[in-house]
Amino acid sequence: MAYDRAVTTAEPRLEPGALAARFPESFVWGFAASAYQVEGAVAADGRGPSIWDTFARQPGAIADGQTGDTACDHYHRFLEDVALMARIGVTAYRFSVSWPRVQPEGVGPANQPGLAFYDRLVDALLAAGIEPLVNLFHWDLPQALQDRGGFADPAVVGWFTEYAALVAGRLGDRVADWMTFNEPAVFAFLGHADGIHAPGLRDWPVALRVADNQLRAHAAAAGAIRSLVNDARIGIAIDVNQVVPATDTDRDRRAAAAWSAARDAWFLDPLFGRGYPQLGMEVHRAAGHLAGVELTEPPPGDLDYLGLNYYRRDPVSARSDRPFDWTIGARPGTEQTQMDWEVAPDGLRDVLLALHREYAPREIVITENGAAYPDRVDPDGHIQDHRRVDYLARHVAAAAEALAAGVPLTGYHVWSVLDNFEWSLGYSRRFGLVHVDYATQRRTPKASADWYTRLIAAAR
Ligand code: FCB
Repeated sequence: MAYDRAVTTAEPRLEPGALAARFPESFVWGFAASAYQVEGAVAADGRGPSIWDTFARQPGAIADGQTGDTACDHYHRFLEDVALMARIGVTAYRFSVSWPRVQPEGVGPANQPGLAFYDRLVDALLAAGIEPLVNLFHWDLPQALQDRGGFADPAVVGWFTEYAALVAGRLGDRVADWMTFNEPAVFAFLGHADGIHAPGLRDWPVALRVADNQLRAHAAAAGAIRSLVNDARIGIAIDVNQVVPATDTDRDRRAAAAWSAARDAWFLDPLFGRGYPQLGMEVHRAAGHLAGVELTEPPPGDLDYLGLNYYRRDPVSARSDRPFDWTIGARPGTEQTQMDWEVAPDGLRDVLLALHREYAPREIVITENGAAYPDRVDPDGHIQDHRRVDYLARHVAAAAEALAAGVPLTGYHVWSVLDNFEWSLGYSRRFGLVHVDYATQRRTPKASADWYTRLIAAAR
């Protein structure tokens, strides 16, 4: 198996042992995944449809017309997957709960068989010495709630809090680490303004209502979790990539500042008790995104830790001086992953430093980092994904630099353990450290899994 093979990275400072020495023993090394991307079994045990089931069926929505119907069949194979993670040696696993498994209609009493799956998963993780981190929402809203207005309806604050309480009530005796939302900006903007994620809407005022209701739902659910779980540690995962002007012109500089205020600070400022950022307000207003939207200051985030999902550098290039008249994407000639994302390990260090300086969260956890590359299975069955190893090693090194500079960084989760359903790109992008043959569901650890094993072993 590739699992047993040694992998060396180009530079000695990126060797697992050298990297590991830069982290405290208590540092958390984990994997992250999400329900719709890995579970499959979309009709099992009373699960109701989610907006992703609906969206995936719209012609043209997903590459090659694929869906998460089967995905990695993790719902049935979770024991094998937990065993794989234990062999790799991670100390934590961040997974998400599928709301429509727990409440098929989005409201009402828990569907016990659905909730029982997460019970078994948590028990299996704990038995394997892996700490569960439960994320309550990774975009798979019950379709029944979308039919009632979804996240644009303020009633969602109550719906979400009730759901959070059902999950916390059931798992809270064994789970201390919680996350309310994954990437609220992606859910709000890609799902409701750009139309490329579920529910596929193209309506900015709706997207900004969705953003606002997520912030309110976060605060309300955090309160509910705290009342049920004494030692709860609550966070949220915000995706902050390194936003830079594409060229050194005033126009691109202004566009980059406008974009990060209208997107990243739009969530971070309210979470840290500052209300919506003024520049972000101006930009959204000028673009007409606030038509008919009344925004008051959302409650602060009540965060024990801030989760950071980081992947890339986002160069912003202005087409004109109008807000949102810009393009964001990798510059030609730069190093990129198969997502066409510009690789920027230094950006991770700089984003960590900026978050620490600007918001001073009590703790930061890197809740996602990873890369898609066109992996090749060798004739002998091995996957020598050296580019992924190199990507991960350089990002871990950047995290170590931030730690050394005083950032209270306590954990790092690789996205992801298994290759999985990459949203609108279907199965065409592989992020796993473990390869999945979707025809047979056979799992094969890649060289990167071996690298991660060595890193974690050396760090503990
Ligand atoms: C993040 C998502 C995650 C995965 C990675 C590649 O934006 O949170 O589900 O798709 O990107």
